[in-house]
Amino acid sequence: MRILITGAFGQLGSAVSKRLSKDSKIIRTGRSIPHDGQGIILDILNQIHFKDVIDATEPDVVIHLAAMTGVDDCQLNPKLAKEINIAGVQHLCDSFKGKIIHLSTDYVFDGKNGPYSELDTVCPISVYGETKLAAERILLNHDQNYLIIRGNVIYGDSSNTDASFLNWVVNSLKDGQEIRVVNDQYNNPTWTKSMADIISLCIENDLSGIVHWGDADYLNRFDFAIKIAEKFELNSKLIKPIITTELNQPAPRPLKSGLKSDKLIEVLDVVPPSIDDCLDAILEKNAK
Ligand SMILES: NC(=O)c1ccc[n+]([C@@H]2O[C@H](COP(=O)([O-])OP(=O)(O)OC[C@H]3O[C@@H](n4cnc5c(N)ncnc54)[C@H](OP(=O)(O)O)[C@@H]3O)[C@@H](O)[C@H]2O)c1
Repeated sequence: MRILITGAFGQLGSAVSKRLSKDSKIIRTGRSIPHDGQGIILDILNQIHFKDVIDATEPDVVIHLAAMTGVDDCQLNPKLAKEINIAGVQHLCDSFKGKIIHLSTDYVFDGKNGPYSELDTVCPISVYGETKLAAERILLNHDQNYLIIRGNVIYGDSSNTDASFLNWVVNSLKDGQEIRVVNDQYNNPTWTKSMADIISLCIENDLSGIVHWGDADYLNRFDFAIKIAEKFELNSKLIKPIITTELNQPAPRPLKSGLKSDKLIEVLDVVPPSIDDCLDAILEKNAK
């Protein structure tokens, strides 16, 4: 199978490329290509080039990960957020008639009542959430074979990603830097490898529609940071609790958010990993 990935050099893109390259031909695309990477330059805003790349590479499946992911950046620059997160998906649908796997987010919910199932009512409270929901609706209305996978607090362990909460905590504590972490935002943080494994299984089983995937532990961000510090044997006293409103961020955050994975657990007969198991596996990998 030939699989084209947009945003392939990002946090999740790196893990998904690695996982799927075991069984498939992977075509990695990105707005820029890292010096040690191989792929095709593709800015999803360029509709003509998008179609040219699809026509030239003839993928069976496109995994669409490219997005403007900075929640505050989206709030401060809604025009660009709409272009990348909404028009980018439209360009993909206009260019490609095969199976699309699209990564969406728990930020399509308002965070009053999480964790959420696929049947819960969406109600985004930020520009990022609005644009990701609008992207979902393009796929829903496009008569396209699609799978939307919603994720939440996805954390990578590769050193070349800035988007990872894990890396931010570990690197800050290693530098002896005090960090303030919110204790009123609840989610089920999900390791990139866990999400990559699920994407692989979804392809294998040709799933369609909307599904949620989050790892097993539901906790607040402060408690997650403490778990990371303890596993990595770093000074957890440098982590100070704070509430979301104290941060005065441009974009509102859903507080009681997160995702229920029951549908995928049943359909794929899988068990979401615990944070402890994921952090142990990361530590073991890094020790090699
Ligand atoms: N991280 C999370 O907690 C989370 C949770 C739920 C869903 N998701 C979704 O998962 C997907 C992957 O996110 P991630 O965590 O891997 O974030 P990420 O590391 O920020 O990856 C996003 C990638 O998209 C690329 N991109 C941005 N604008 C582009 C454009 N115009 N053309 C082509 N590529 C462009 C970025 O490239 P540059 O490096 O050049 O900017 C980056 O490589 C996104 O769709 C995101 O909405 C993430």
